[in-house]
Amino acid sequence: MKTELYSLDDKGKLNNLDELASIIKNGGLVAIPTETVYGLAANGLDGSAVRKIFEAKNRPMDNPLILHIADIDQVEELVSNFKQEYKEILENIWPGPLTAIFKKSEIVPDEISAGLDSVAIRMPDKDVTRELIRLVGRPLAAPSANLSTKPSPTSAQAVLEDMDGRIDAIIDGGPCDIGIESTVLDLTGEVAKILRPGFYTEEMLEKYFDKVEMDVAISDQKQIPKSPGQKYRHYSPKAKVIGVISEDIDSFKNFVEEIKSTDQKIALMVFEDYYKELNCENIINMGPKEDLSKMAKILFESFRLMDEKRVDIIIVEGVEEEGFGLSIMNRLKKAASGDIRRI
Ligand code: TXA
Ligand code: MG
Repeated sequence: MKTELYSLDDKGKLNNLDELASIIKNGGLVAIPTETVYGLAANGLDGSAVRKIFEAKNRPMDNPLILHIADIDQVEELVSNFKQEYKEILENIWPGPLTAIFKKSEIVPDEISAGLDSVAIRMPDKDVTRELIRLVGRPLAAPSANLSTKPSPTSAQAVLEDMDGRIDAIIDGGPCDIGIESTVLDLTGEVAKILRPGFYTEEMLEKYFDKVEMDVAISDQKQIPKSPGQKYRHYSPKAKVIGVISEDIDSFKNFVEEIKSTDQKIALMVFEDYYKELNCENIINMGPKEDLSKMAKILFESFRLMDEKRVDIIIVEGVEEEGFGLSIMNRLKKAASGDIRRI
């Protein structure tokens, strides 16, 4: 299969969007830009089209998919006993990086929910993608458009790296603004529960919901996560990743020297204060530590870049697990298989 790349014009529009809608209506796969990461989309109400997503990604069949909608009224047919109070809240948040879990309705195929009685729904904040959903006239199933276990793609180029020849088309919508996936929020119980941390933090969601809890599995790896995807290996470049939270620049430098002495090719990803003080052939500036948005935006892309440079070890400056820092550390911990050091 040849994978076609479609680029937006200066106004962010695609003239031949109807061709892409036809591909999806006919059961094909199209990678779509969103504000978080690129998704790999199929007609979410067509079980056999959805199965192709699992094949293209090598994704385990027990990991459910998110349905992407363009208008809030689409929620009602996908959810059984939809509570109207949630509609008002979601009108304030959507389009945006929040995925909500509800009890599913009959029309949601089993391939989407992977055997659960619930369904994940999100409205992405990217005009061309919502336009595509409207043209298809169905919700689009879309996991992140990477091969399973690889870092999520935040550019069309990264999608192509993993998916060339495996899918019909890619819409190049430029780099993703946020860079890590949406917050997954379970609304099936009495209390809203975060199953995967993301852009929307507990504090931000407390403005909308009476009470917000965190799934215990987010901080305790011995617990079974309520979100099946959280149990798998994730975000892993070929290089080994180590997260480091250091007291000061000297301890960080010493750590780097120790690793260097093992003769391995290393890369550093550090905030701007350390960036000014360090010398390394492969070093990435993650911007100011007070504003983690750049770190989130470049994290996955940098992993892919360092793989291209055939680096052996990527040392990433870590942050405290609070607010948005908790969401980013959730990704970094998985990429590092838990190897986060305090020195
Ligand atoms: O930002 C995002 O959420 C991106 C963009 C493309 O929208 N999508 C994304 O999809 O990250 P994916 O499939 O890579 O991650 C979806 C997560 C998985 O951890 C999955 O297990 C969980 O959501 N999930 C999906 N349906 C669920 C359900 N019914 N109950 C619990 N967790 C669910
Ligand atoms: Mg994913």
